[in-house]
Amino acid sequence: MATAPRPRPRPPLPRFPAEFLWGVSTSAHQIEGAADLRQPSVWDTFTAEPGRVRDGSTAAVACDHYHRHREDVALLADLGVDAYRFSVSWPRVRSPKGLDFYDALVDDLCAAGVRPVPTLFHWDLPEGLDWLDRDTAYRLADYAAEVADRLGDRVGKWITLNEPAEHTLLGHALGTHAPGRRLLFDALPVAHHQLLAHGLAVRALRAAGATDVGIANSHGPVWPASSGAADTEAADFYDVLLNRLFAEPVLLGAYPSGLGELMPGGDVAADLEVIAGPVDWYGVNYYAPTKVGAPQGTEIDFGGVRMPAELPFSVREIEGFPTTDFGWPVVPGALTELLTGFRDRYGDRLPPVVITENGCSYQGLDDQDRIAYLDAHVRALHEALAAGVDVRGYFVWSLLDNFEWAEGYGQRFGLVHVDFETGTLERTPKASYAWYREALRGQR
Ligand code: NOJ
Repeated sequence: MATAPRPRPRPPLPRFPAEFLWGVSTSAHQIEGAADLRQPSVWDTFTAEPGRVRDGSTAAVACDHYHRHREDVALLADLGVDAYRFSVSWPRVRSPKGLDFYDALVDDLCAAGVRPVPTLFHWDLPEGLDWLDRDTAYRLADYAAEVADRLGDRVGKWITLNEPAEHTLLGHALGTHAPGRRLLFDALPVAHHQLLAHGLAVRALRAAGATDVGIANSHGPVWPASSGAADTEAADFYDVLLNRLFAEPVLLGAYPSGLGELMPGGDVAADLEVIAGPVDWYGVNYYAPTKVGAPQGTEIDFGGVRMPAELPFSVREIEGFPTTDFGWPVVPGALTELLTGFRDRYGDRLPPVVITENGCSYQGLDDQDRIAYLDAHVRALHEALAAGVDVRGYFVWSLLDNFEWAEGYGQRFGLVHVDFETGTLERTPKASYAWYREALRGQR
């Protein structure tokens, strides 16, 4: 393994509580490869359609983590993280011996002193299932029980779903992610069925003895484009879709802004009781804030996502902040704003928070920009802690450069570079890997 370039010296990070959980995250479809050893998912079907993925790539091989997981666990051990968040591929679990892989991975993690934190669903829905069908929620709960039965003796901390908001919005409302539907507001049942799946999975995990269960929802402050009524109303509406629609059923047992009336099924109130079954902690994936204004009457291309003209809002450019290679603004203070805002909004109903993803896309091994991003966000997190928000952990997205969905391999979020160009898939730690390792040592 090549050695990491050096991080530039920086002032030490503030101290976090001794039991604070430091980790990194990945997901199955983005790193595993070995597509021949599992059932197909909606992402395999989607990526096979021309024009869906920017560089025309697929995740058939990805980082080949399936065959190289020992090497990757060694990278985790060397990094010194407390925990590793990965996802279990539902299509793999449906294949003979699929669970053997996770069984071995969990064993290796435990042997290396790294706590396994599996996510049950990170967008790779088995082909043939559909979130428009209520039944998919019950299938997910059965699958959760099967995984817990096999891994529950060694896994303590579980995540049910990853970012149901993006899976709904990008996958079913706008169609830029699998399964590629452009249903706009007719995608709302997809949100409800995923939330129901979350509630049923929490029950299944608890029945299997789990005591440390959460969800990973994507959240970010929504900034109105101006203080005018049209812009603030549009921003409030976007905040409902991005933040409240997925937080409030789980935390409060209610849909915001009358959206419950639009949800499918005979008895939404009964479903909400399931959805609001208490979680032990609440996972937040944070990347950047969004600026939103009144509709502009034209279709906008926003970061590769075509936002149709008929939406009752328009996403605007945030100016005055540096941007990552993905074009996302770097606004660490918005993480503090998000967390204190959540605490103010939900009070006692908000359980302890874990940042289940935070990271950025930059090219190159000497990734000083990523270090600056992570360093600033960890400090912003500490400010939230100092302001009284109960934050218990922080996971960097991601351990490895990987298949960034519709962007293919073009956007690199890893602390470790993966050689996709020559296809050797060689892992090379970046400067940010060395930075994180030193940061973690400083907390011991
Ligand atoms: C959120 C998703 O959970 C993850 O899969 C993705 O790669 C990162 N954001 C970066 O876009």
